[in-house]
Amino acid sequence: DRIEAAARELREADAALALTGAGVSAPSGVPPFRGEDGIWSEYDPDAFDVWRFRREPGEFWTDWLELRADLLDADLEPNAAHRALADLATAGRLDAIVTQNIDGLHEEAAALADREDARGDAARGGVSADSGGLIELHGNARRAVCRNCGWTTDADDARERAESGDLPPRCDVCDGALKPDAVLFGEQLPRDALARARRLAADSDVFLVAGSSLTVEPAASLPAEAADRGATLVVVNLDETPLDSRADYVFRADVTETLPALRDALRE
Ligand code: OAD
Ligand code: ZN
Repeated sequence: DRIEAAARELREADAALALTGAGVSAPSGVPPFRGEDGIWSEYDPDAFDVWRFRREPGEFWTDWLELRADLLDADLEPNAAHRALADLATAGRLDAIVTQNIDGLHEEAAALADREDARGDAARGGVSADSGGLIELHGNARRAVCRNCGWTTDADDARERAESGDLPPRCDVCDGALKPDAVLFGEQLPRDALARARRLAADSDVFLVAGSSLTVEPAASLPAEAADRGATLVVVNLDETPLDSRADYVFRADVTETLPALRDALRE
């Protein structure tokens, strides 16, 4: 069937890459950005752009704390799709996972996979941000960063500072305003992450897109450029995407079903 065929492509690829979006975290309870129940139908995206942050960082933080509570529920856990992707990376079937998500769930899934791996036989590549196997294109909302000096702290610490009345929360080193370490509208993507993603995309034989509407640049151009070069494109997404017509395999399905099925097919 088509799962088998897509799995065969991954097995035979010299280089393979995955790009994920909000749809991969949706089954964990993270709301999507677009669509009826999406973040941007409840919140005004203009309140979260970098100009607002610069103009009125205190008010920005008041709004951010609200959005963040919706986005990063305290007991979010990685789901079967995160786990399947981490397994594929650990098994060397994916060279990296490039994500647009800012919830940190890929990293958590990788930590789980590593822990299980440590109990098994070999220590393998893995998919932590440290090993380069995870590329967070839009940053990570579980951290906050100083705009002046780059000092970082975890998001809970920043939240506690903010809630104790000091708005915006400030840097320990230079007293600069802390910013959530997620890419805001109007901000550049982290340069290294984007460069690495572009390089991997340029080398990929198979490009797997999971749970993204592919409407936000430059992320959306990664699979488009891979397809231009003739890479095999696999799209797993509930709704249509602008790249479906150019994909070799389209699974209009839930990522928590298709990705574990792909992983299992590769194990056989
Ligand atoms: P979107 O919300 O635009 O798209 C999510 C896609 O996931 C939709 O097309 C859904 O059909 C699909 N989906 C939802 N649940 C699914 C499931 N269980 N299985 C399969 N597919 C599912 O999110 P992104 O494409 O990630 O930017 O949006 C990209 C960027 O736009 C985000 O990173 C964010 C936002 O503005 C920043 O935060 C900088
Ligand atoms: Zn600082």
